[in-house]
Amino acid sequence: MFKTDIYINRRNVLRNLVPSGVVLFLGHTESPVNYAGNTYRFRQDSNFLYFFGLNLPHLAGVIDVEEGTDCIYADEPDIEDIIWTGNLPSMEQIAAQAGINSVSPYRDLRIKLLSAIRKGRKIHFTPPYRGDSKIILSELLGIRIGELGNYSSKVLIKAIVQLRSEKEPCEIEEIERACDTGYEMHTLAMRLCKPGIFEYQITGAMEGVAGAANGMPSFPSIQSQNSEILHNHNHNNILRSGKMLVTDAGAETYMGYASDFTRTIPVDGKFTARQLDIYNIVLEANNLAQEISKPGEFYYNVHIAAAKIIAEGLKSVGLMKGDVEDAVRCGAHALFFPHGLGHMMGLDVHDMENIGEKYVGYDDEIQRSSQFGTANLRLGRKLKKNFVLTVEPGIYFIPALIAKWKSEKINSSFINFQKVGEYIDFGGIRLEDNIVITDEGCRRLGKRRIPITQEEVEEEMSK
Ligand code: GLY
Ligand code: MN
Ligand code: MN
Repeated sequence: MFKTDIYINRRNVLRNLVPSGVVLFLGHTESPVNYAGNTYRFRQDSNFLYFFGLNLPHLAGVIDVEEGTDCIYADEPDIEDIIWTGNLPSMEQIAAQAGINSVSPYRDLRIKLLSAIRKGRKIHFTPPYRGDSKIILSELLGIRIGELGNYSSKVLIKAIVQLRSEKEPCEIEEIERACDTGYEMHTLAMRLCKPGIFEYQITGAMEGVAGAANGMPSFPSIQSQNSEILHNHNHNNILRSGKMLVTDAGAETYMGYASDFTRTIPVDGKFTARQLDIYNIVLEANNLAQEISKPGEFYYNVHIAAAKIIAEGLKSVGLMKGDVEDAVRCGAHALFFPHGLGHMMGLDVHDMENIGEKYVGYDDEIQRSSQFGTANLRLGRKLKKNFVLTVEPGIYFIPALIAKWKSEKINSSFINFQKVGEYIDFGGIRLEDNIVITDEGCRRLGKRRIPITQEEVEEEMSK
């Protein structure tokens, strides 16, 4: 946990942003894999972690705005618990770490909430996303499960986005730690990669690095020699000469903070000239995005600038044609770059996505585009100092998408479909780094950049 004052201060700021009512944060329960006693590794809800820091199952935190009180609802471990899990501090001692001196039995939570509801007071909660939390919340508040989202508090959501978007120094330190583990994961993958081994051999070794750093992967690793598939969790292929291996993976620290990196490397350890042509376009887009990301800049504009680099580069190899500005305005680049340039990152790899991207990545100044490709941009709003985000441009040759655009003549004035046909087996390339916005620009996170130039990648792979 961070120092106690951090949590007290966060709750005090929240209290100033939510003018009245009772704010309820449900912590997570254990989640069974295949029977109740065999559980997934416990992961606390990120909002609960942010405001209370307590990494234990079956807790609830309540902030009563008018009363000015904070309370943890939890059951004391009984003798059965102690036999199996050993002695635990009392709940009073645990709650004190978060600066809370009021602990009540979990069953009293219902009484507290019902009494507030009877007085006509507002219960603020975020939209639940786990089945068990939905059930608990539904029973506590008497709201049908399917209706819970409609009753979630926009005031609370906006307050949380305001607080969690600008990372504190202690959070940035923790994210740097996750990035350093990410560096070790990716460089290990580079050293292991060679024709003839299974993808899962690399995935398993790489994910072990996150465990050995006392954490875990920040999301199920994406690793595939079918590198044109954006999110592939199947690792059963034997690596073949001539292919490229995409690895999109990061670490989550013990405290719950994420990193999220992507590298794409030649299975043979050396890029072909054709691979390098496309690779260097993606690298240029990544570098340009980092050069221009700064406070006050809309990330939407950074996305569009990266898209123009991609369109320009693809035009120079004969895959696109026509005016680059027009091509990007029409969304023609999205045949090759169908996703967004990046997203917020913090306690969640897609930070706060569970409370709504429209609040996290967009605001009154800018709304999400509906154009194919750019519609997938999770973060479009103006950047501010201490935002932490990813920069992840890519170029992919997705056979089904190419076939659709070709047959429907979509953006055919900007795409050289004949030439694209020569790249149908090429795969895809994505290069992802993590940055923090500074006073005047941005800074890449992690002690060292994961090898990214041709020379750096080939050297690491030769080790
Ligand atoms: N790890 C998925 C992404 O890069 O957004
Ligand atoms: Mn990623
Ligand atoms: Mn990402």
